[in-house]
Amino acid sequence: MQCSDTTQSHKYTRNLVDEGNGKFNLMLLCWGPSHTSTIHDHADAHCFMKMLAGSLQEVRFEWPKGEEAETEEGMVEIDRNVLKPNGVCYINDSLGLHRVENASHSEGAVSLHLYCPPFSACQIFDERTGKKMKCPVTFWSKFGKKVENGPPKSAC
Ligand SMILES: [Fe+2]
Repeated sequence: MQCSDTTQSHKYTRNLVDEGNGKFNLMLLCWGPSHTSTIHDHADAHCFMKMLAGSLQEVRFEWPKGEEAETEEGMVEIDRNVLKPNGVCYINDSLGLHRVENASHSEGAVSLHLYCPPFSACQIFDERTGKKMKCPVTFWSKFGKKVENGPPKSAC
């Protein structure tokens, strides 16, 4: 499968590879230099991730506290991991939230993600306030074909 030209976009692309008969979503994420995700949850799903090329940094955060969850202190970082090629990581909502970023200003990266069960929306969070927003999951391509008129980016 060919990923989109990440040097032309401002955001990593999400490329759906397999829907697992409705049991999971397997996707390739293609990251250009300095591309980063927002802080997001995983909609009660399991998330497995493996680095295929390049390197990414995963930054984990606590869930914002309280019902309103808006704080002046901002979100609390709890862990930071660098993933090299063949490196793996796992997260679900009980382990917190995370942001994934390509810290390189010159190299791209490719990561393989398995979400089980699949989900169509997640929540994204403002690092400064903890404020959350629902965000649909979108794809740049599905099964090797670019999604026509589809939003080119997604946060989760
Ligand atoms: Fe994630």
